[in-house]
Amino acid sequence: MNCTRKILNGNRVIPVVVINDKEDVLPIAESLLKGGVSIIEITLRSECALSAIETVAKELPEMKVGAGTVLSPKQYEDAVNAGSKFIVSPGLTDELAIESKKHPLKFIPGVATPSEIIKATQIHGFSFLKLFPAEIFGGLKALKAYQSVFQDVCFCPTGGVVASNYLEYLALPNVACVGGSWIVPNEAIRDKDWEIIYKMAKSVAMNI
Ligand code: 3PG
Repeated sequence: MNCTRKILNGNRVIPVVVINDKEDVLPIAESLLKGGVSIIEITLRSECALSAIETVAKELPEMKVGAGTVLSPKQYEDAVNAGSKFIVSPGLTDELAIESKKHPLKFIPGVATPSEIIKATQIHGFSFLKLFPAEIFGGLKALKAYQSVFQDVCFCPTGGVVASNYLEYLALPNVACVGGSWIVPNEAIRDKDWEIIYKMAKSVAMNI
């Protein structure tokens, strides 16, 4: 099985970011790029999330910007219109699957259990899935168990993936990438300490 994905722009770690002040998005994205990380997932958990996506899509074309926490077809469409290059959801509904087929960009739906994986793969035809929240739903052990059962599925574990465990996740053959907020710590955003984000990105880029 080959879990390499074009969507990842050469990256294997997706920084998951909540932007509360839209002035922060460019310094964050620029720090990630400077550190060697050229992908960012901006979650639709704040009022300015869509405009933050729009800003990155316009100002930093070398950055692959995606929308996360997409829960409804309307949010999916809004995220596409804002310029998202990929869409991530913590779960999967029939409505989201239908919406995703209307757009050419990559959709990474979330799953946690075997039945959800069967539905996502057999009914909706997805083979690249977010395992969420990874650490709560078995983490490394679950992925090892899923490997022999779901041989054609690649995962992006997210939720509880941190600096101390992400390399173990990336070492699994059915893991294409991991997602996490640890690369862009809340305190760094609060303090507008972009150097920390640059350093986090650099250490991640050097390790993979
Ligand atoms: C997500 O939306 O994918 C998660 O909230 C990120 O989880 P983390 O904060 O545990 O990295």
